[in-house]
Amino acid sequence: MHRDDDRQRPGFETLAIRAGQEPDPRTGSVVPAIYATSTYKQDGVGGLREGYEYSRSANPTRTALQQCLAALEAGSHGLAFASGLAAEDALLRALCRPGDHVVIPDDAYGGTFRQFSRVHEPWGLHYTIAPVADVDAVRGAIDPGRTKIVWVETPTNPLLGIADIEALAEVAHGAGALLVVDNTFASPYLQQPLTRGADIVVHSTTKYCGGHSDVIGGALVVDDDDLAEQLTFMQNAAGAVAGPFDSWLVLRGLRTLPVRMDRHSGNAERVADFLTTRADVSTVLWPGLPGHPGHEVAAKQMRHFGGMVSFRLAAGTQAAVDVVEACEVFTLAESLGGVESLIEHPGLMTHASVSGSPLEVPGDLVRLSVGIESVDDLIADLAQALDRAAG
Ligand SMILES: Cc1ncc(COP(=O)(O)O)c(C=O)c1O
Repeated sequence: MHRDDDRQRPGFETLAIRAGQEPDPRTGSVVPAIYATSTYKQDGVGGLREGYEYSRSANPTRTALQQCLAALEAGSHGLAFASGLAAEDALLRALCRPGDHVVIPDDAYGGTFRQFSRVHEPWGLHYTIAPVADVDAVRGAIDPGRTKIVWVETPTNPLLGIADIEALAEVAHGAGALLVVDNTFASPYLQQPLTRGADIVVHSTTKYCGGHSDVIGGALVVDDDDLAEQLTFMQNAAGAVAGPFDSWLVLRGLRTLPVRMDRHSGNAERVADFLTTRADVSTVLWPGLPGHPGHEVAAKQMRHFGGMVSFRLAAGTQAAVDVVEACEVFTLAESLGGVESLIEHPGLMTHASVSGSPLEVPGDLVRLSVGIESVDDLIADLAQALDRAAG
């Protein structure tokens, strides 16, 4: 069995397949069961079997997923939610109060910014936007005594910016704030923020964790009992939990996360290299490229550079729309992280909700979620789409 260097802890690939998923003690079932139940028989009032009382509070399929997520993120507690945004909402309401302040990224998933600006700000949570790649700018955005959370994505969606997790953890902790890292783009296989000082990891498990574009889910992972208690309270009290079927699908996806991420990353590298050869592409955004401004930090904190690639069209917005519509192997669709390659126009699709805000994305931008198909087919598809858009 492969083990990490200390020879104590199983390797990541083993944890992905085994953590939380020991064969069922009664039947030997190798695959965890889907416990499609809302409630549990009590052996006398309060006589709970293994603590199970009601499935909003706990469900064995969700427990299995939560244990696996915690192990993969090197944390002690995982919490699974109905969506990534549900996880974010629970986090903010559990740990912040009206009047508090948070620092948020200048490039982020549009729905995350919409939640800050249209759900939590009206509720009384103030925010300052800062570029996550600039440690001094993040430090300057902190309001000492009032800032509770520094929130980053790395890589960011959709511009693939890189935040230095260790440096930002120091900055946040120096001001008495927590560092939250949305690890959706990297997945725990490529990057484990808790091991670099982050306090809370956020996932849209809809993406690489699930990996097959067949489920919506979210997660939080922490390595601190007090934080876990506060978050678990909100998970149950607000109730946006992952159901047993959805938990099972994400857990199934996690088993193959390492092999998928290796292939996503390898294919993305070839696609990014191809795009750099095109005169009609003005910029290629992929942290694995040596010229990417976050390349060195990404190389320090990531195992590989991931499957997300964005690029800008020299001819502008209409050319970007034409390219996304001309692809045939890449499917024109929102979302990311599934085995199939997707292409989209962030300005008009995933990030339409940040139009007119400081997070607005360039109109000439195209975002790829590079899948695990034959990479030659992906490159040929992009080549024909770029040629058609130019012609
Ligand atoms: C980086 C990132 N975080 C969070 C979310 C929100 O997750 P969900 O769509 O599962 O609510 C998304 C969705 O695209 C995302 O890309």
